[in-house]
Amino acid sequence: MRAEPVDILRLPEGEPLPAWVARLDRLAFGDAWTGLAPHEALWGIPDLAFARWSRVPAAGEAELLRIAVAPEARGRGLGRQLLEACQRDLAEEGLVFLFLEVRPTNAPAIRLYEACGWEPCGRRLRYYGDGEDALLFQRVG
Ligand SMILES: CC(C)(COP(=O)(O)OP(=O)(O)OC[C@H]1O[C@@H](n2cnc3c(N)ncnc32)[C@H](O)[C@@H]1OP(=O)(O)O)[C@@H](O)C(=O)NCCC(=O)NCCS
Repeated sequence: MRAEPVDILRLPEGEPLPAWVARLDRLAFGDAWTGLAPHEALWGIPDLAFARWSRVPAAGEAELLRIAVAPEARGRGLGRQLLEACQRDLAEEGLVFLFLEVRPTNAPAIRLYEACGWEPCGRRLRYYGDGEDALLFQRVG
């Protein structure tokens, strides 16, 4: 079942991370990152999903650091709505060279990225702490 279009918010600069972001972070990745650094930005669907980015405005670049959807809400199109909203907002700011890393075994995430116009562009050997490689993806425009 696909989700209806939902409201996606961007966390205002300088605001602390809401508790629901830490909850989703732990559920998806087993740990919760702390507040945003000045060059970071976060978009979210409260209680359901968030995407955290690192921005390099001078280079027109941004890197997707983490994206997570609540386990009970996956597979309904929320990840795609969220990622597309981030891409639109970043493009409006002139950030059109987008990058990310993903585990080759993370099929749902790779499918999401491909559905949103990302393409593989490299591999980092033994990138993750457990020795798994990282695939690099990019999106331009
Ligand atoms: C990756 C993740 C964010 C996807 O979010 P989601 O809301 O479930 O994804 P969507 O429902 O928007 O699906 C997006 C696309 O991926 C596909 N997809 C989603 N889950 C899938 C799965 N389990 N298997 C295969 N394809 C899948 C969908 O079919 C869709 O493609 P389509 O539009 O061509 O049909 C979510 O699974 C998640 O939070 N995973 C844990 C955290 C994580 O691994 N994050 C990425 C690494 S930073």
